[in-house]
Amino acid sequence: MTVMTRKPAGSARLRYHALLAGRDSDTQAWLAGQLCQVTQRRDDLPDDPEQLEHWAARHAAMVAHQHADYLMQRRQGAPRRYFANRAQALWFLQQVAPTKAVDGAWLHGCLRHWGDPRYHGLIRTYLEELGDGDPWCNHVLIYQRLLSRLGCLEGLPLDDSRYLQGALQLALGQAGEGYLPEVIGYNLGYEQPPLHLLITTHELAELGIDGHYFQLHVTIDNAASGHARRALQALRQLQPEQGQAAFYQRVRLGYRLNDLGVDTPSLIASFDLQGELLAALERKRVFGQFMHADRCRLQGRTVNQWLAAPEGLPGFLQALQAQGWIERNQDPRRCRFWQLIDGPKASMFGVFSAYEKQLWHDWIAADWQRPMRRVAPGQWESELTLETPCETVQMDGFVHLIAAMAGNRHAEPPGLRATRAYIRATGLTGGGPC
Ligand SMILES: [Fe+2]
Ligand SMILES: [Fe+2]
Repeated sequence: MTVMTRKPAGSARLRYHALLAGRDSDTQAWLAGQLCQVTQRRDDLPDDPEQLEHWAARHAAMVAHQHADYLMQRRQGAPRRYFANRAQALWFLQQVAPTKAVDGAWLHGCLRHWGDPRYHGLIRTYLEELGDGDPWCNHVLIYQRLLSRLGCLEGLPLDDSRYLQGALQLALGQAGEGYLPEVIGYNLGYEQPPLHLLITTHELAELGIDGHYFQLHVTIDNAASGHARRALQALRQLQPEQGQAAFYQRVRLGYRLNDLGVDTPSLIASFDLQGELLAALERKRVFGQFMHADRCRLQGRTVNQWLAAPEGLPGFLQALQAQGWIERNQDPRRCRFWQLIDGPKASMFGVFSAYEKQLWHDWIAADWQRPMRRVAPGQWESELTLETPCETVQMDGFVHLIAAMAGNRHAEPPGLRATRAYIRATGLTGGGPC
């Protein structure tokens, strides 16, 4: 038998994990392949880089206009555009988790240029992604805490394509000097606040989900002075005097990498509530098929028999309804099955995770309208207590600090300490709390 040691071509998930572990051996070749894929694609950047300021202003104005439109529609009674229910929102937050877990990673290679003021805008952007080493402000940790509070930390099995953007970000951060134009271009695309960010922020709050992570990006990436602005300045400052056209062409390729994979609105729209519930049941079935007493019967079959094969699951949902355990389109709290799984005294307490319970809840509720619960932007539950020990990092050269601040490591305690030490040593301080 031959043992496969190479990553199967096209597996973004394996690439992502190899990059995360710092064990990806052919990053540059893979990145070159991804860039090759986008050469024939179109983008919305102007042909003349002199027009970029105008382009950015037009983009920001268009997003503002579309957002105002969205808000007006909502005021006039339109339903949420993205999230039909809370389960869909939790599903989405887990789908993008691999990307959020490496937020900012594409800029890691800039750190070594701390002595060159032309890089300071990009470095500052990266340091802000890292929360300047403060675990409260580190974007990766903010997102992790959000998932943790929502009971979604263990994650879902995800489609391979969910790992592509994260892999690209890590690869750009690790690929080195040869990819500066592409990094600038990717950064230019990623840091322009999109409409979907504004809508997501709004609708998460409406569903009682802390939207701080998203709200933070609305403000910190702003086009007037935030990351979007700095992205443009970096291009201006770092483009060479000779060969500007070739440089800009490569910037455009890097920009187009943002479009690989599935775009956010299409991803959200692909949610299938019943499909997700069945997938969750299938994950449970393997264990659950032996756990029920034989007196638990539905339509003459034991629950263990219902759970014996994946094909039985849709019928199991039908049987629960036929036997009166579940009546859909009503308040789930009135449903006998819901009472089995919800609450500390429920007989199946702890069987389903918070996300899985939300799937049940929303599938049962279906068309039943829950009274809306609005949470003001920025209002969120208390965070987990994280220690911020007074650090004493020995400065044994920037190489070690920079290595510890890589996109796959900066959110761990040594990475956070290194970030603070780097800021102290370089004087590249930020402008206050995140
Ligand atoms: Fe971020
Ligand atoms: Fe940003």
